[in-house]
Amino acid sequence: MIRACVIGWPIAHSRSPLIHGYWLNQHGIEGRYERRPVAPQDLAQFLRTLAEHGFAGCNVTLPHKETACRLVAPADATTERLGAVNTVYLREGKTWGTNTDGEGFINSLRQSVPGIRLENARAVVLGAGGASLAVVNAIIEQGAAEVAVVNRTLEKAEQLRRRFGARVRPVAWDDAASQLGECRLLVNTTSLGMKGHDPLNLDLAKLDERAVVTDIVYTPLRTALLEEAARRGHVVVEGLGMLLHQAVRGFSLWFGVMPKVTPELHDLVARDIDPDFRR
Ligand code: ATR
Repeated sequence: MIRACVIGWPIAHSRSPLIHGYWLNQHGIEGRYERRPVAPQDLAQFLRTLAEHGFAGCNVTLPHKETACRLVAPADATTERLGAVNTVYLREGKTWGTNTDGEGFINSLRQSVPGIRLENARAVVLGAGGASLAVVNAIIEQGAAEVAVVNRTLEKAEQLRRRFGARVRPVAWDDAASQLGECRLLVNTTSLGMKGHDPLNLDLAKLDERAVVTDIVYTPLRTALLEEAARRGHVVVEGLGMLLHQAVRGFSLWFGVMPKVTPELHDLVARDIDPDFRR
């Protein structure tokens, strides 16, 4: 029996068990995927004793992503650059950490918009927090010419420029609309528009007509930003895709099978988020 888990504080609302449980069942693997609340003061001890707890690895979520990165061996250059891990696994007696948020974002985008090319393109990213970091890095890795990072606290957007270089253009929140004229991809990484949070007010009138619009918020499944963009004729990509795609590599590292993000999995998780979901 192979076991993995997701750790966070709190962890009760994580949908990862639903996703990995679906794949375990689909592939007939004798495994388990559990939720484990781990308080900040217990994180180091938990990661050190993963094997003794019988785990092949774990997902890591808030508030542990950065601390965990300092406690494990970064498995690749992207993880080192981000300084945050969401996936931990054991190999050859060592505890490794990697970050699958960026590939989750890109693979979700590619599944919905197969022809999308970001080489030499211009993107606009709203927000400069932890989620933005992985998204901005992924867009730059795809060869984008410029990523305008729009953030209420300008200093955090400037930090992203120091980290990723001159392709990042920090933009003040009030100037967001002025950035939309030439834009292949618009991404919301802020919590605005999430159920229980303030709405995201952004006038899309000047948005480049070719722009694909995506939101990493997935409660609701289709945010007001995506509703408005779709109404204006833009291709939109819902945030749930990133959640599903970021889970793929962890599953393969622990359970040895590369799983697929199927329409059936999508609908299972969509119904968990919104019982009224209909395809
Ligand atoms: P995460 O790790 O999920 O990205 P975070 O680090 O708390 O979470 O980042 C939240 C993002 O939403 C930030 O960009 C934040 O802007 P600030 O850096 O100025 O805090 C943004 N955000 C949250 N509430 C906001 C609001 N009312 N108006 C504008 N931006 C907001």
